[in-house]
Amino acid sequence: MKTNSEIIKLDKISKDYKLGKTVVTALKNISVTVRKGEFLAIVGPSGSGKSTTLNIIGCLEEPSSGTVTFDGKNLTGLSSNELADIRASKMGFIFQTFNLLPVLNIFENVEYPLHLRGMGKAERFERVTKVIKEVGLERFTKHKPAELSGGQRQRVAIARALVGSPDVILADEPTANLDMQTGEEILAQMKELNKTLGVTFIFSTHDQSIMDKAQRIIELRDGELRDGGLIK
Ligand SMILES: Nc1ncnc2c1ncn2[C@@H]1O[C@H](COP(=O)(O)OP(=O)(O)O)[C@@H](O)[C@H]1O
Ligand SMILES: [Mg+2]
Repeated sequence: MKTNSEIIKLDKISKDYKLGKTVVTALKNISVTVRKGEFLAIVGPSGSGKSTTLNIIGCLEEPSSGTVTFDGKNLTGLSSNELADIRASKMGFIFQTFNLLPVLNIFENVEYPLHLRGMGKAERFERVTKVIKEVGLERFTKHKPAELSGGQRQRVAIARALVGSPDVILADEPTANLDMQTGEEILAQMKELNKTLGVTFIFSTHDQSIMDKAQRIIELRDGELRDGGLIK
């Protein structure tokens, strides 16, 4: 994959939430450019706008103003079907609480997004087997999530995010529910995949040891980018 070209551009993004008569401003005039192959951390205290930023990049929420460009395409004004297509084909998601389906085994959890795409069985098998190997869980394909540790569950979530060959993986505090050592292992795994596969990673954290490992850090305070986002 060509690196250094732009994959995501947020241009003067603001986001307000209306709660009855009051308005909560979650983001104020955020501009960020992310290049292909970056390993980028969004940091800041609770309530600073990290999740909102990731949700806007992931087309899960619409900005109140400003534009989002993804791979050269302006996402403003696209229909929810068009946004869902972009999400399914270009993006992978990892959540703080893993969000695995408890009744499905590990293989089936990773396979799930491919079902949603209507992919045939042979290709599903090939892809799922490959990514499960990449995260080192070959021995656990028949296990249910409840039989795995937190770190192993997050590896399943990484495999599920990877299985569709996304351009970008968005991870909202992926280490927040893990002990420090496991969190660092998960981050090391993400970094390795970033290096070997060239997948762009954007993740949020407020854990210093995790942010130290990022290639670039942008810092949010009360919905604003600190120092124009050029912390590292
Ligand atoms: N759905 C929502 N409705 C109202 N306010 C929200 C909503 N989501 C987030 N906010 C507010 O926006 C601000 C930023 O939230 P968030 O992006 O979740 O921050 P972080 O992820 O850094 O903790 C906070 O003040 C939060 O209370
Ligand atoms: Mg958050």
